[in-house]
Amino acid sequence: METDYSFAKTHQETSALEFMWRMFHSPLDTLSELAREHGDIAHVKMPKRDFYILNHPDFIEQVLVKQQGNFVKGPSLQRARIILGEGLLTSEGEEHLAQRRALQPAFHRHRMEEYLPLMNENTYAHMSQWTHRQDINFSEEMMRLTLDIALWSFFGSSPKGAVERVSESMKTLIRLFPLAQLPLPEATRSLFPKFKQAKTDLDLVTQMLLADSQSVHAKNALVNILKENSKGQFTDEQIHAHTLTFLLAGHETTALLLAWCWDMLAHNPMVQGKLQAEVDAVLNDRFPTSEDINNLPYTRNIVKETLRMRPPAWAIGRQALNDCVIGGQEIKAGSVVIVSQWVTQHDPRFYDEPHQFRPERWDDLEMHSLPRYAFFPFGGGNRICIGEHFAMTEAIAVLAMISRRWNILPGDPSPAEPNPSVTLRPYKAVKGIVQRRIV
Ligand code: HEM
Repeated sequence: METDYSFAKTHQETSALEFMWRMFHSPLDTLSELAREHGDIAHVKMPKRDFYILNHPDFIEQVLVKQQGNFVKGPSLQRARIILGEGLLTSEGEEHLAQRRALQPAFHRHRMEEYLPLMNENTYAHMSQWTHRQDINFSEEMMRLTLDIALWSFFGSSPKGAVERVSESMKTLIRLFPLAQLPLPEATRSLFPKFKQAKTDLDLVTQMLLADSQSVHAKNALVNILKENSKGQFTDEQIHAHTLTFLLAGHETTALLLAWCWDMLAHNPMVQGKLQAEVDAVLNDRFPTSEDINNLPYTRNIVKETLRMRPPAWAIGRQALNDCVIGGQEIKAGSVVIVSQWVTQHDPRFYDEPHQFRPERWDDLEMHSLPRYAFFPFGGGNRICIGEHFAMTEAIAVLAMISRRWNILPGDPSPAEPNPSVTLRPYKAVKGIVQRRIV
């Protein structure tokens, strides 16, 4: 069967000013409208370089996998170096490959068995503080929980004050992110005092974690993989950059995923009921084991459906190193291409009723051949998220642990609206009321 690529209007250009204005105000609507108006390839001519928005899974695969050697990270991620330094998220080429090889062992599937008890214990400790019918701010609660889990898993300790300091710094950095997108000289950016303070605080926590790496819990932690490799490979500056990268990338996206899951579940009581039935049957009163994590298919489908509808990473940008061709479209060196999880994962060609939250759809979708890159919440190719298994294990464990013991009722009459910043956050925090289950 021939694939129908809908880029009949590919060469119809959208004006740069209009594009920038629309992207600034409502990037999700703008990208979705461009896909509707221009089809699978939208072309925007900007003053300095061309932009292409690629919406078909085959084209996404070309960028992320088949032609990955011809693309580097897009300009906004390149600018994230001012916060993250040259860590795994921001490095390129040979340097990236070497770093990835060194760090990969900490993320193998079998390592999840070591992390899972930390996920369970931290979740238990957090929810044990809740009381019947208490209002919970799930956005904040999940941020603190995933940060605690990341600290114990990757660094073997949670130094006093670290969670508060990191949370506050993250809020500031995300608020100031639009500023970081402006084409200002690097030096001027660090003059903004709040930005500077947030960066200093994060550096301080990073130093605390590195200094604390001798604790018994830290024996196998990521921080020591970094130090062992440092003999031949990592400089102190790189160790610092990796530590900071895992501190931030290791908790924020998963916290958002979990907050969105609770929002969806609170507003879909039938789905929540099915989740509880599965968890009750599989776990009874045990904490989940690695085997259980693979034996909770409905819980996994809830996580996947949430990642589809509310992808914490909602778009990926790349810059072409050389001229290339994708879907018949010539793309010149220096052009920026954008592929968006938000757009493609809501495309009615691949998902029936794409705006409906239906975890059951994944049973059908997996049996029928969904194009590989119609669902790419963790990216793809050599830059695929290194923490994918960690995040999936963590999300399933946290959902199972909490829903076994609590009902979550909506704290607001309607589900939260998505607010695309660096990541896809809710405009207003996700709120819920927790009700103790009689089990
Ligand atoms: C729901 C949770 C998560 C989502 C949706 C997510 C999403 C992503 C995506 C889309 C990328 C690729 C970015 C690109 O291609 O430009 C990525 C890369 C990355 N993620 Fe995640 N992530 C999650 C959790 C995690 C966790 C738990 C960790 C740490 C343990 C982590 C660490 C990283 C790192 C270091 C990279 C860069 C990998 C490389 O370039 O080699 N992420 N993530």
